Amino acid sequence: MSAGLQRLELLARSYALAAVKADREGRIDDAINNYKKAIEVLKKIIRLYPDNPLASVYRNILAQYQRRVEQLEKIGVPATPREAEQLEEWIVSEKPKVRFSDIADLEHAKQAIKEAIIYPVKRPELFPLGWPRGILLFGPPGCGKTMLAAAVANEVDGVFFNIDAATIMSKWLGEAERRVKTLFEKARLAARNGKPAIIFIDELDALLGVYESEVGGEVRVRNQFLKEMDGLQDKTNKLHVYVIGATNKPWKLDEPFIRRFQKRIFIPPPDKRARLEIFKLYTKNLKLAPDVDLEKLAAITEGYSASDIKDIVMEAHLRTIRELFEEKGGKGDPRPIEMRDFIEAIKSRRPSITKEMIKRYQEWYDRFRG
Ligand SMILES: Nc1ncnc2c1ncn2[C@@H]1O[C@H](COP(=O)(O)OP(=O)(O)OP(=O)(O)O)[C@@H](O)[C@H]1O
Ligand SMILES: [Mg+2]
Repeated sequence: MSAGLQRLELLARSYALAAVKADREGRIDDAINNYKKAIEVLKKIIRLYPDNPLASVYRNILAQYQRRVEQLEKIGVPATPREAEQLEEWIVSEKPKVRFSDIADLEHAKQAIKEAIIYPVKRPELFPLGWPRGILLFGPPGCGKTMLAAAVANEVDGVFFNIDAATIMSKWLGEAERRVKTLFEKARLAARNGKPAIIFIDELDALLGVYESEVGGEVRVRNQFLKEMDGLQDKTNKLHVYVIGATNKPWKLDEPFIRRFQKRIFIPPPDKRARLEIFKLYTKNLKLAPDVDLEKLAAITEGYSASDIKDIVMEAHLRTIRELFEEKGGKGDPRPIEMRDFIEAIKSRRPSITKEMIKRYQEWYDRFRG
């Protein structure tokens, strides 16, 4: 990593730490000043090193600092300890609305997740050697990893902690280590009351795949994380705390990390049958002309992800709405969606999954099958 970048990162970190400290202690002007300096440095990093893998993380931090500055400038009073506590909103225990039935296909993955969590919760005595607490969902973008993990919370009556890795790293730079600890403490506490606690970490690679461009704190965060996961894995531990991680770049994870996610589930791109299911799911509430042949659409959309297909359906539908507004003054009903609408929508968008990508996932899976 370039020395210039490293120097700037250290500088950002020291301003950020000073800002957070001042913020905690109620020294508003100091806090504002230091947040502003941190913001300046982060802007510079993003400008000078746009390809830095952490650039998006920094953008995120920057936006948070900006919001905090605005708050401080507006209220003019320090955050009380109670408010500071609320800043930990990245621990969301509210359940997402999505259910397994909203997710097309992926039966094997749904089943594997249920088994990995439900069997041990129901009959822990059947697992004298312990059971995996880390579940990794990996696969190409837009095929349902995030959706699936979100649905788990509803399907296995548990307490859900939803965080994304960029947030762990960014929320008050330098404090992430403590936050990871708090997260696991809260999860254990929840599990003690008898329900499984599920910690879902989206974009896991952002947290752990940044070895070479670490700001310093990240090594400690990562180690804290590994430590917490080891604690879960201890076979005398009967608490039902699970960590589900999702990534579309599994090769960015290093071995110590991979090892702790013993259950690895590949979320593949949809095959023809799955694509048909996805088309059906998303056209369920739309008016289709008789010439629409979903089987055919499924056949010609190889390489398109579930998310692509959803977009295609939306675009096809939008064509009828657009026509209604542009040609009929926006009155009455749009015409049914025809086959040509779908075809045009497909033509205007490239498939997001290539054969090379699939090969790469397959190779990774062959190495780390779990
Ligand atoms: N199996 C599926 N069934 C129905 N809709 C899906 C499915 N997979 C993805 N989608 C749609 O695509 C969107 C994106 O999916 P999701 O966020 O789960 O992808 P992901 O695998 O997490 O991708 P990434 O690796 O980019 O994070 C979802 O919000 C949903 O609308
Ligand atoms: Mg995702």
